[in-house]
Amino acid sequence: MNRPKVLLTRRWPDEVEQYLAERYELTRNVEDRPLTADELREAMATHDAVCPTVSDRLDASIVDAGRGRLRILGNFGVGVSHIDLEACRRAGIVVTNTPDVLTECTADIAITLMLMVARRAGEGERHVRARAWTGWRPTHMMGTRLSGKTLGLIGFGRIGQATARKAHLGFGMQILYYSRRRAAPEIEAALGARFCPTVEELLGASDFVSLHCPGGAETRHLLDAKRLALMKPTAFLINTARGEVVDEQALAAALRSGSIAGAGLDVYEHEPRITEALFELENVVLLPHLGSATRETRVAMGMRVAENLDLFFSGRAPRDRVC
Ligand code: DGY
Repeated sequence: MNRPKVLLTRRWPDEVEQYLAERYELTRNVEDRPLTADELREAMATHDAVCPTVSDRLDASIVDAGRGRLRILGNFGVGVSHIDLEACRRAGIVVTNTPDVLTECTADIAITLMLMVARRAGEGERHVRARAWTGWRPTHMMGTRLSGKTLGLIGFGRIGQATARKAHLGFGMQILYYSRRRAAPEIEAALGARFCPTVEELLGASDFVSLHCPGGAETRHLLDAKRLALMKPTAFLINTARGEVVDEQALAAALRSGSIAGAGLDVYEHEPRITEALFELENVVLLPHLGSATRETRVAMGMRVAENLDLFFSGRAPRDRVC
């Protein structure tokens, strides 16, 4: 029997590529460059499974190219806002993602960004590398401490809750959260978390605001100029979720005017392009979408896609079906 044809849109960790190559007719992206829209269409039309990442925009015109041949999109990542799910449903294409395995590492990056921006770590490192440091002094690069402060989380799924746990148990932070669904009382109690009925209330009450909601049309520009203005001038915004949740131009303006104290960003509205004004600002930390970027996690993500494909092609229900 012919083995299913599977295409990976980017390079994956070697051991995962090897695992897949032993089971499937595998098309790899040896050069690891983003595929063009035409190349994606071609891939969709000629494979049984395509495994995309956040760097691929799978709009309806690309999804439709898979009609009749493509059976499953095994996304390498938990977020799927880069895939037109409605078009997949119409075309009868199954979509899976990789939850759980990246929870801790993504929460770690949220905490990293909080510490970096509040303790001015990026700025300090640039200062030392520029050979500008003249020595210790009591008023040099004073930052803001995390301990005892209030962290407001927008989105309280797996990653939001992991961030809350690290912040509450590690730094003694008080936790507020806004979410469409209120968490169970035992989760709130374990994390010292208090539910906020509106985003607006949370913004006004938090010293740090960290985003953990999904991307997509529903949350696009959830943090616009009006909502950013509700944050305290001493507060910091952290985004490890999706770039489109924040109006990046409005954020740059808020950072420049000092209407908020700083921001730590791992994701951007138009990746890999970043709003030019942000490069000029010292009070923002910019990371290149590193949330899940540990060896352990990237291998686990790849193996989770492989598990979904194995289940699907052996006629069983994939573990992480999104649609
Ligand atoms: C995720 O898993 O969604 C990460 O952001 C990488 O895509």
